Formats: sequence, structure tokens, C-alpha cells
Amino acid sequence: MSIVSSKVGKRIGHPATQILTDITMEIPDGQFLSLTGRSGSGKSTLLYLLSGLDSVSSGSVLVDNSDLSKMKRKEIAHFRNEKIGFVFQFNYLIAELSVLENVLLPAKKYGQEKNRLELAKSILEKVGLNEKLNRLPRELSGGEEQRVAIARALIMDPRC
Ligand SMILES: Nc1ncnc2c1ncn2[C@@H]1O[C@H](COP(=O)(O)OP(=O)(O)O)[C@@H](O)[C@H]1O
Ligand SMILES: [Mg+2]
Repeated sequence: MSIVSSKVGKRIGHPATQILTDITMEIPDGQFLSLTGRSGSGKSTLLYLLSGLDSVSSGSVLVDNSDLSKMKRKEIAHFRNEKIGFVFQFNYLIAELSVLENVLLPAKKYGQEKNRLELAKSILEKVGLNEKLNRLPRELSGGEEQRVAIARALIMDPRC
């Protein structure tokens, strides 16, 4: 999956602050990339724009040659769920759901909970949580919670 941004800008708030200005970059398919910069410099904001979690104020983002700003909300939601795995700084696990249920949540949205059950278990085994499938998030350590979030990001077998 290739991601290309052209002169992307982002303004937020009232009065508006310019957070990002003219970001032009190309991430070719298969690229492994790290984005570094001081805290507050706009890394998260850029990732939200490149993945369709937020919309640009100016410029454009093309994912596999389709312009995210021309896609309908539903299309973007579908694109995110299927093509991109997200691991957030704050893990956003659902407190009432078990480890296994949290990992299967993106699959549940498409009625694929059963198909992906074995995959969920194998990913949880890879991240060392096979003995904690039925625990609730509050019964885990911070690092374990983060590993559940990684497993959840991989359950749809995303391109990115
Ligand atoms: N909703 C918002 N309203 C106003 N300013 C914001 C908002 N979200 C982020 N910012 C500001 O945008 C800048 C970039 O934030 P962010 O992309 O989260 O930085 P990073 O991930 O590099 O630490 C910061 O200065 C932050 O204070
Ligand atoms: Mg950040």
C-alpha cells in the first residue's frame, strides 16, 4: 500500500493554530518507516491524516492512488478497519471486554468473529498472552494491555 501526501496542512481549534504546513512525502509499498520528532511537533496529527482518522485542512493524501478526502466516511472507516492496524499511545481497550473479545472487535464489525477466532488466539500466543485470554484489561499490566492492542491491530491482517 502506498501513501502519498502533497502539501498537507492542518489547522486546529478556535482561534485556529497551524499544526502542520505543506507536508509532502511518499511512503512506498513495503517501506518500514519511523517518524521521530520532539513531543508536540505533530507526529500523531500527521499519522491521523495519513490514515484517514482525521481530515486535512489543505493539500491531499492519496492511498493507493485514491484521494482520502474524496472518500465517503463509511468508505474511509472500511478502509481503516481492513487496511491499517493501529496501535495507539493510549491503548483504548474496552474495559468490559476480555482480552480475546477486544482483539476480535474489528472482526466482529464484519461478522468475522468466528473465522478469525483461531487467528486471534495465535496472535495472542505470539505476544505471550495465551494464558490471559479471558482476563479483563484492568487485570493486566500496562505492557500486557499494550500487547493486546498490538494483537487487535493485527487481527484484520492489515496491509499497513
Ligand atoms: N485538538 C487540538 N486542539 C488544539 N491543538 C492541538 C489539538 N491536538 C493537538 N494539538 C497541538 O498540535 C501539536 C501537535 O500535536 P501532536 O500531533 O499530538 O504531537 P506529537 O504526536 O508529535 O507529540 C501540539 O502542539 C498540540 O498541542
Ligand atoms: Mg504523539
